Amino acid sequence: VKIVMLGAPGAGKGTQAKRIADYYRIPHISTGDIFRANIKAGTPLGLEAKRYMDAGGLVPDEVTIGMLKDRIHEADCGEGYVLDGFPRTIPQAEALTEALAAEGTKIDEAVDIEVPDEAIIDRMEGRRSCPNCGESYHVRYRAPKTENICDVCGHALVQRADDKPETVAARLRVYHEQTKPLIDYYRGQGVLREVDGTQEMGEVFEAIKALL
Ligand code: AP5
Ligand code: ZN
Repeated sequence: VKIVMLGAPGAGKGTQAKRIADYYRIPHISTGDIFRANIKAGTPLGLEAKRYMDAGGLVPDEVTIGMLKDRIHEADCGEGYVLDGFPRTIPQAEALTEALAAEGTKIDEAVDIEVPDEAIIDRMEGRRSCPNCGESYHVRYRAPKTENICDVCGHALVQRADDKPETVAARLRVYHEQTKPLIDYYRGQGVLREVDGTQEMGEVFEAIKALL
């Protein structure tokens, strides 16, 4: 099954995409995680992406689409995958549709996690991330067992550079302008599944399973 996650920054796409990937035993492909890994490794792609990410903007489509196509080829074991953070613009969605059509396939489900902007700001402010393995936590809604230490790998947690309030506001603006139109795009393809993302994480996952 090929799944696309839609929703505002902080809606819980990463949290739910990990659960979906474990449940269906398919790869989880997150463009944000790939960019952050490249920034950490100091690659040319990372250096370029960082300029846009730190300002809350989007990395240019040419860069992102090329990178994503390579990653899909590497990851796809024939069982599909869950895409998290891609597509994020109409040109990205069209490029994905075309690339899949060329292989005689398509996206099966687009899961849109709906969370109002006010709740997003609270989630981002309390998010803590593991710079080593990428796991994400929340100081109130998903606290690690030991304060500020990753449950998975034991590394100290950090606040993401783009989770500062000014940057979150810019990311939300970009979401409304450039990414939200994808909801209608996938509705038009007959694959849109809408989920109330304000529920507790386990409840959101149950709602997603019921829809897929
Ligand atoms: P990316 O990493 O994709 O960031 P994002 O879309 O802004 O999403 P987030 O990772 O912030 O949030 P999420 O929805 O995954 O929420 P999470 O599960 O962590 O992209 C970062 C940047 O990279 C972009 O700004 C852009 O510059 C660039 N980029 C990436 N892809 C690109 C593309 N395709 N094109 C161009 N540029 C691209 O949850 C958030 C918090 O809330 C966590 O603390 C979590 O524990 C908590 N939480 C989750 N669910 C719940 C719940 N139900 N109740 C309470 N708390 C919850
Ligand atoms: Zn970790």
